Amino acid sequence: MDGASPELDFSLAKEADFGEVMSISGDIYGGIDYLPARYHAWLKQPSRKVILAKSKGRVVALVSTNIVDDGHTVVLEGLRVTPKERGKGIAGLIQRYCLDLIRNQFPEVKVRRYSRSGHFEPESLSKFRLICRQEILALHFNLEEVRPKLDAAIAQLKVSGTEWEDPILLQASDVKRVFLNPCVVDNVLPGRTIIQDWAPYKPLESNLETLLKRDLFWMADSKEEPKVLTLGTAPYRIPIEAECHRFNIDIFGKHFPHARNQFLAQLQHGTSALQGPLYCLLYLAPSLWQEMLSFCQSSLGLRKERDIEGQNVLETEV
Ligand SMILES: CC(C)(COP(=O)(O)OP(=O)(O)OC[C@H]1O[C@@H](n2cnc3c(N)ncnc32)[C@H](O)[C@@H]1OP(=O)(O)O)[C@@H](O)C(=O)NCCC(=O)NCCS
Repeated sequence: MDGASPELDFSLAKEADFGEVMSISGDIYGGIDYLPARYHAWLKQPSRKVILAKSKGRVVALVSTNIVDDGHTVVLEGLRVTPKERGKGIAGLIQRYCLDLIRNQFPEVKVRRYSRSGHFEPESLSKFRLICRQEILALHFNLEEVRPKLDAAIAQLKVSGTEWEDPILLQASDVKRVFLNPCVVDNVLPGRTIIQDWAPYKPLESNLETLLKRDLFWMADSKEEPKVLTLGTAPYRIPIEAECHRFNIDIFGKHFPHARNQFLAQLQHGTSALQGPLYCLLYLAPSLWQEMLSFCQSSLGLRKERDIEGQNVLETEV
């Protein structure tokens, strides 16, 4: 620690705190932060609490808790500390405050989960169980430039005969059957977990009901025996540049051709009404990363925009 931790007051975030939360978030994730797009919706979700830490009346940290998995798990998201106050233990303090709150108000919550980017030394993992790890491929391009290449890449795969099968856009009525299929749970979902835009959910009916209320694109290669499933989160605005959207595609399964086809179909479907710059983030099995990057380079003329360390879903007792 560089200095003594300041006195903190904890409170629930309100709409009126938005400006201050954004002002402490300026450097987060190099301008591709999801919180500006999520903040207002988060405040309205009954299962969620967004907690602020204030020092001398000013916001210095934020974290959100969301109770999922039939009430047994709390997912921590959005952790951030204002740059000037980092290294003083505030992230630890705000998380401890939240966990005390959860223990008191929701004694049935036994497990805490969160996703964190990076590599972990074995000693840090003595505190957590690693549930799964997905690699991240970050692509940044202009939709007008890439759309003709996208259409051409799909057309070329179609004429090859064996490489392409139309990915299936799942209807709400299909989603539970496909995602709760025991073979999918055991063999397709990483660590038996559905990850949507960084948040981990166990494959349970209650979680799927919650996710089905969101603006998501659910895709599969087959309804009966899927090898690959994808979850596209409807593109949302990010602060990095004017008119720029972020499109997250969570890819589950290790079969490269089907993962590639669903990536292309997600991109075509999810961005059809958009133009301008897009930040597309693919979260995928480590074994697929290099092949996906090579395909993006050779067929779409894209390059990796930046290195983002992998996404780890971690779990420990509350
Ligand atoms: C990461 C960040 C929140 C750390 O804040 P900090 O106040 O400097 O951290 P501290 O001095 O409290 O550091 C240690 C504590 O924070 C926890 N921590 C650090 N990074 C963390 C992360 N990415 N996710 C969860 N917990 C984290 C540590 O486990 C430790 O907790 P402990 O005291 O219970 O062991 C801060 O640097 C930040 O806001 N970074 C930008 C946003 C970001 O990367 N957020 C992480 C979300 S994945």
